[in-house]
Amino acid sequence: MLEKMGEFFDARLDGYEAHQLDTIDSAREFYPFTAGCLPQKPGSCILDLGCGTGLELGYYFEKVPTAKVTGIDLAAGMLNALREKFPDKSLTLVEGSYFDIPLGENVYDAVVSVESLHHFTKEEKVPLYEKVRAALKSEGYFILTDYFALSEEEERLRRTELVRLRKEQNLRDDEFYHYDTPLTVEHETEALLCAGFSKVTVLNQWGPTYTLKATR
Ligand SMILES: C[S@@+](CC[C@H](N)C(=O)[O-])C[C@H]1O[C@@H](n2cnc3c(N)ncnc32)[C@H](O)[C@@H]1O
Repeated sequence: MLEKMGEFFDARLDGYEAHQLDTIDSAREFYPFTAGCLPQKPGSCILDLGCGTGLELGYYFEKVPTAKVTGIDLAAGMLNALREKFPDKSLTLVEGSYFDIPLGENVYDAVVSVESLHHFTKEEKVPLYEKVRAALKSEGYFILTDYFALSEEEERLRRTELVRLRKEQNLRDDEFYHYDTPLTVEHETEALLCAGFSKVTVLNQWGPTYTLKATR
C-alpha cells in the first residue's frame, strides 16, 4: 500500500537516522561531503528542501555553527525531531510542500536537498527549480545529493509502476504518496538547465548517489 509522503516518514521516525546512515551505501561519506559543499562563511543563509531530521545539517552546523538555516518538510514529526536536536541554532522550520511554499527572492547563499527529490517528475521539478534559482543570491548555488536512476529504462519502469499503484489504489492526483521514482542524472540536469541554472556539475558519486551543483 502506498502511504502519504509526510505520514510515511513520520511513521518511521524512530530509528530513521540509523537507517539512513547504516543502510544507504556510503551515507557516512555523502552527508559530510554535502555539508562541505555548502558555504563555509559564518552566518551563511541556507535553505534545505526536505530537511527531515537534518542529518546533513548536523554535519553543516559542526563546520558553520552560526549558519542561518531554513528547512522545509511535509513531515511534522521529522521537523520536531530536528528542532529538538539543535535548540541553540538559527533554524526556521516550515511544514509543507516545497512545491507550494514561496521561497522568496535573492535570499540564500545556497540551497541544499538530500534524499528528497527522487519522488518527482521532471515536469514537477522545473517550476520548483525556477523558484530555487530565484531564491538564491547572485553568487548562490544549489547542492543536490540524491540517488538517481542508472538508466532511462529504470526511470521509466519506476514511474510506470507508481502510476499503476496509484490507479489500483484509486489515489487522488493532488497528493504525494511515497514511492521512489528517481530520474537519471541526465534528466535531472535537463530540469535544472531548463529552470535557468547556468551550469550543472557532478561533484561526486557513490554508486547511484550523486552530488550535483547547479550554479545560478
Ligand atoms: C528520506 S528523507 C530525507 C531527509 C533529510 N534530507 C536526510 O537526508 O536525512 C525525505 C524527506 O523529504 C520530505 N519530503 C518529500 N516530499 C516533500 C515535499 N514535496 N515537500 C517537503 N518535504 C518533502 C519527506 O517528508 C522527508 O522528510
